Amino acid sequence: MKVVAFSGSPRKGKTTDRVIGEILKEVDCDKEFIRLAPMNISPCKACLACVEDNICKKKDDMRPLREKIINADAFIIGAPNYFSMLNGITHNFLERLCQFRHQSCDILAGKLVAVVGVGSLQPEIPAAQIKKIITYYQMEHVGTVTAQGAASCFTCGFGEDCDNGAVRMLYGLGRKITKDIIPDLSKQPTKIVEAQNLGKLLMSRLQDKYSGQPAAVGG
Ligand SMILES: Cc1cc2nc3c(=O)[nH]c(=O)nc-3n(C[C@H](O)[C@H](O)[C@H](O)COP(=O)(O)O)c2cc1C
Repeated sequence: MKVVAFSGSPRKGKTTDRVIGEILKEVDCDKEFIRLAPMNISPCKACLACVEDNICKKKDDMRPLREKIINADAFIIGAPNYFSMLNGITHNFLERLCQFRHQSCDILAGKLVAVVGVGSLQPEIPAAQIKKIITYYQMEHVGTVTAQGAASCFTCGFGEDCDNGAVRMLYGLGRKITKDIIPDLSKQPTKIVEAQNLGKLLMSRLQDKYSGQPAAVGG
């Protein structure tokens, strides 16, 4: 059994990566954590070159991921909210799974997915969008964890006085940025427990699948 986790956050070690890490802690089988941000994965250009053989012909970093995706039994896919949407890095990756979708190709069908959404205000949005997109690939949603992340506005140097920033949106203009108001996963213990429980659920769903047992009910 193999679980592959994909984090779409460009910020290494921040909330998306950390929530995924909490899920992965409970995954007791072959597992791999892949950060998409350092990879060169461009969007689907709808060239239809993958229609005949379900193989994307673009020469970028989606190529080495192809075999990993085919061989995985389950995925953890996490993304941050950028402008009330799934961020571009994650969207590009999910678009490129389209190569597996032609001619009733069932490579992705039934593969399990645990979803992670992060945002400074609305972490549910990227989670809901990932959940929606995986249904196009007939993948199976096992559960979702969302958590609040710290917008860059807390550390950019201008956050206290910026009209457009997340600090103002969350606390009002002129609020001093102190450590206690900066969102952090360590301040969301229930989210950590939720993530670990999702990891356990993913594991038991995988075991059920392999032993042919009826599936437990997921979130
Ligand atoms: C370009 C950009 C746009 C963003 N837009 C939103 C937004 O519309 N809503 C929101 O809740 N958070 C928004 N955020 C904040 C991120 O979701 C937040 O910083 C989150 O913690 C990022 O995930 P990470 O910590 O794993 O990198 C935005 C961040 C960036 C960089």
